[in-house]
Amino acid sequence: MTAFNVRTKSELTGELSGKHIVLGLSGGIAAYKAAELCRAMVKEGATVQVVMTEAAEHFMTKVTMQALSGRQVFGSQWDDTPVNVVGSVNGEGIANNMPHINLTRGADAIVIAPCSADFMAKLLHGRADELLSLMCLARPIAEVPLILAPAMNREMWANPATQRNVAQLKQDGITVLEVGEGDQACGEVGDGRMLEADEILADLIAFFTPKSLLGQKVLITAGPTYEAIDPVRGITNLSSGKMGFAIARAAVEAGADVTLIAGPVSLPTPRGVKRVDVKSAQNMLLASVKYANYATIFIASAAVADWRPANSADHKLKKEGSGTVPQLSFVENPDILATIAQSERGKKGLSGMPDGLFCVGFAAESQDLLANAQAKRIRKGVPLLVGNIGPATFGQDDNALLLVDAKTVKELPEHGHAASKRYLAQQLVADIAARLGHPA
Ligand code: C5P
Repeated sequence: MTAFNVRTKSELTGELSGKHIVLGLSGGIAAYKAAELCRAMVKEGATVQVVMTEAAEHFMTKVTMQALSGRQVFGSQWDDTPVNVVGSVNGEGIANNMPHINLTRGADAIVIAPCSADFMAKLLHGRADELLSLMCLARPIAEVPLILAPAMNREMWANPATQRNVAQLKQDGITVLEVGEGDQACGEVGDGRMLEADEILADLIAFFTPKSLLGQKVLITAGPTYEAIDPVRGITNLSSGKMGFAIARAAVEAGADVTLIAGPVSLPTPRGVKRVDVKSAQNMLLASVKYANYATIFIASAAVADWRPANSADHKLKKEGSGTVPQLSFVENPDILATIAQSERGKKGLSGMPDGLFCVGFAAESQDLLANAQAKRIRKGVPLLVGNIGPATFGQDDNALLLVDAKTVKELPEHGHAASKRYLAQQLVADIAARLGHPA
């Protein structure tokens, strides 16, 4: 099953559509976040089967989890209720009194959230004295991955015993998610909080994404630039950065090491992405040249200001009351994409050499998209140019792209309708991966 089968906006389905997730709760105050997580997974199209330890029931009721998952919650290995297997919600279940076997058959993953220190220790030793640990031990390892979202006090997390367990669990092929940092329920502050529901959801979606960019180092520019007139005024444009941020997320999900150079935007950094904030085109150029040295793919989606004020005043320009207005003159900004594409590694990338830098440009046009994109691809010296209609997409969640290379033109989405930037970013990443010989 594919993790993502969206075609157009009107056909949008969830990102976990077709997935069956077993959500296990062990005992911890973070159990309240499992309710939100369960709801979010269901909203993304997954079927969710909840299993709770006795300790978890001190923090969260089965009633809540059953209501949110729409399935009976299991808590005891002695429970003789027939188990509804994958694909059947209210249909006939298996009545062999073996919930520890039946619950994971056909599942796409087990997610334990919260996963307590004690539960990790149990998993490590293969203990099986209650349903959840028994079920984890009895899962078909090759088919049902186990993903843990640890949750505990900072001292418990830092304890060498816990860290040893985490290392060993990872070696055993179990995915241990990061922990959050901050205020803890006990009043202490530090590492060990369970990730928020939306973060676990994002990690889960990433987990299911084919790793078509594994080993690639992707550098992306995004957003507008800001060109100062004086310390309080400047010139910018309407780019929201959404397309570039969506590409960064899709690239990291595809296994790439991603650096995102962002102009002034108010978007959250996608999980796992290294972000470098810049303001002006000149700052963006410096950062881009520096990080391009380490990159294998460069995607320039930023709407870089073409010109900047020739002289930025050191102090605020004053309105003198005499009716005179400041006269601004402009100088041209450096072309970041062209600079990098015409570097030695950029040129190698253009001719398809393996140690080259594969550069991708964007063109935000208001008309004649194809002709403008083709001309811009040649002018910039890049193997791939992505055209879009700027005024129609700036600030929006949807877009339509035209991928232009030396020989072909491809519409995304395929039939020309608009699609979410999220979907388009995933398709663009898959397209770039295929060009580099790694089809998803
Ligand atoms: O020339 P134009 O601005 O239309 O080119 C758009 C493409 O070039 C985009 O990929 C944009 O990020 C990049 N660009 C750049 N530096 C500039 C201007 C544009 O990197 N100064």
